[in-house]
Amino acid sequence: MIESRLPIVRTVADLRSVTATWRREGKRFALVPTMGALHEGHLSLVRLARARAGRVVASLFVNPRQFAAHEDLDIYPRDEAGDAALLASAGCDILFAPAPGEIYPPGFSTSVSVGAVSEPLEGAVRPHFFGGVATVVTKLLLQALPDIAVFGEKDYQQILVIKRLARDLDIPVEIIGGETVREADGLAMSSRNAYLAPAERAIAGRLNAILREGALALERRRPIETAEAELKQHIVAAGFSKIDYVSVRDAEDLTPLPHATVDRPARLLAAAWVGATRLIDNLPVMATPRAVNDV
Ligand code: PAJ
Repeated sequence: MIESRLPIVRTVADLRSVTATWRREGKRFALVPTMGALHEGHLSLVRLARARAGRVVASLFVNPRQFAAHEDLDIYPRDEAGDAALLASAGCDILFAPAPGEIYPPGFSTSVSVGAVSEPLEGAVRPHFFGGVATVVTKLLLQALPDIAVFGEKDYQQILVIKRLARDLDIPVEIIGGETVREADGLAMSSRNAYLAPAERAIAGRLNAILREGALALERRRPIETAEAELKQHIVAAGFSKIDYVSVRDAEDLTPLPHATVDRPARLLAAAWVGATRLIDNLPVMATPRAVNDV
């Protein structure tokens, strides 16, 4: 077994005493929030944080508020000792791993609700989700008060929601996005990939390739409506059991694009099911300038 020498703090008071020391020493520090079951995607964020700040704190908290009653809170993979060892090897300085009662003490009754950008896509399919994320991330940012906080582009809408809340609530932190880390066949790494049976894993690997083709077609001026319909057909044909959404949106605010083809920086986002496992992925779509006679 790998021995982890990563210090672990469990209370906000202990976290703040560490970060206050860093601050007194004039060190910039970064926060990398996670729900554990760490993989290379999470570790890439720790390395990015390390490159941008002198000290890195990671948090590990499986946030009950972002799971609906029927979702996988009870079976979400947990391995704190393994996670701590991986974090140490990626250059993390300290792990904040609070018990649920430290984050949501008895009587807790405040929630953070972000409008607009949290409403479509994930927000429409999982109405409880961004309220839970926004509340816990606001708390983590205020508990640690980091100079920067790093989140993965794999959860693209989540980054936009967090940027919005930090701006709206004047939380003095720079939110940074890290690129999606993928398996060899393009499948975005996810703690939930562990749920996939071998036949499902093969299907799951098709999603990214299909989205890539779609993004290319869109960049070659395929009408958005056509491209979205084709993408849905391809995803079903690959063996996915259900599609929650496949949509091309404005990269900044996730509103639908106003014209027939992509004429501004856009994002192609999808959520689909393989059996009982839900996968999400997204890709940038470069803008093609509009011709004078475009509608
Ligand atoms: P979790 O799913 O554990 O992810 C923690 C961070 O890792 C998020 O910023 C997520 O976008 C990023 N991440 C996950 N898979 C990645 C991949 N393949 N490549 C790059 N980054 C990846 O997202 C959450 O936890 C929670 O919602 C949280 C923000 C911690 C709030 O509870």
